[in-house]
Amino acid sequence: MTTPIQGFSKLSKEEKINWIADNYTDNSEATVQILKKYWNIDNGLQKLHDEFIENTISNYYLPFGIAPNFLINDKLYAIPMAIEESSVVAAASKAAKFWLDKGGFKTSVLGTEKIGQVHFIFKGSSEKLQEFIEKIKSIFINDTKSITRNMEKRGGGITSIELRDQTHKLDHYYQLHCKFETLDAMGANFINSCLEQFATTLKREAQTCALFNEDEKGIEVVMSILSNYVPECLVRAEVSCPVDDLEVEQSVSPKEFAEKMVRAVNIANVEPYRAVTHNKGIMNGIDAVVLATGNDFRAVEAGIHAYAAKDGSYRSLTHASLEDGIFKFWIEVPLALGTVGGLTSLHPLVHLALEILQKPSARELMQIVAVAGLAQNFAAVRSLVTTGIQEGHMKMHLLNILNQMSASDDEKKTLIAYFKKNAATHNAVVEALQNLRNNL
Ligand code: MEV
Repeated sequence: MTTPIQGFSKLSKEEKINWIADNYTDNSEATVQILKKYWNIDNGLQKLHDEFIENTISNYYLPFGIAPNFLINDKLYAIPMAIEESSVVAAASKAAKFWLDKGGFKTSVLGTEKIGQVHFIFKGSSEKLQEFIEKIKSIFINDTKSITRNMEKRGGGITSIELRDQTHKLDHYYQLHCKFETLDAMGANFINSCLEQFATTLKREAQTCALFNEDEKGIEVVMSILSNYVPECLVRAEVSCPVDDLEVEQSVSPKEFAEKMVRAVNIANVEPYRAVTHNKGIMNGIDAVVLATGNDFRAVEAGIHAYAAKDGSYRSLTHASLEDGIFKFWIEVPLALGTVGGLTSLHPLVHLALEILQKPSARELMQIVAVAGLAQNFAAVRSLVTTGIQEGHMKMHLLNILNQMSASDDEKKTLIAYFKKNAATHNAVVEALQNLRNNL
């Protein structure tokens, strides 16, 4: 059995690799080889990646693709996407092209406020606490001046500090519920620094507050942290067209197609099992752009799923309607994104992705990302209510299957041509390759 290791982080990269190869893999030589194969030949670039996290031993590649032809508020974008799932980029591109001659996507930012909280325990009179917090609000602001100065110069900063009594949920539990405008920064560091200063100020001022008795002076701060639930950092994206323009398949009339789309979205709105998959498809588009632009996709995922459940039941993030001959399809999602700070200037591909997107502000990026989610959902639901998802999926998956079976370039060419006219199920691909190899 492998024994625990002390001081792994202090080992050199080579030593770490050797240790993992010797202790956790069957063929240490092959392990070392594969890990090194993924190192960048540019030592400087490799060092940069090594230093993004701790204990780096190699790089993990994801494809970086482009979905072109996105018309968003009359401006044409080519959207970079980092994703491993076949068919996502193809689906996004198809949806972009479909809406290109129908006015494209229209978007608007509904809010940009972010939230952070100081969670604390106070055993005493809530009226006195309220009075105390009101009294020290200006001290909170003054104490954070060194953190907020630059942000304020650019028009952002702390926008509100509010005491929330949560004692009905948990004994003696209160919060400072704070709002921030962080402009083009995602703002996590800014918000957390402000919150930790608020916590220090809160404890210090309580100690000398004349309103409090000795017990009340001992405010206990539990934690200070931003919230990834950002329902007031919200963006909307929409497409619409006269129903007669919805010519998607010969087998279904435009009106029938619109009705099927609306019904499918309505199902995702009332049925959580479907809603989760429906929203997963939306996240295929959202995450891919969030990742390509160096943003925190876990934060985005957590916030968006919480938003999908805001009414007490998990629902669709997209909506569809058919009224007066007009089909409308739209999404509303919370997105806390940054286009400065973090990885945005450090990671060369992230930098490039932002350049391809014409160096967007965070507000613009929110709109682009929402569009990617909406487009992805349109493409997925379109397939689901017409041909079924497997047709397109398996075609895109074909290359993965052929690669798994070590097909040569010639074999791939022949079989891609063959599966243009035949259903590309996993078994059919395996069989066709075997037949080809046996000259059948
Ligand atoms: C697959 O990654 C995403 C879909 O399942 C989304 C959906 O069902 O709407 C196709």
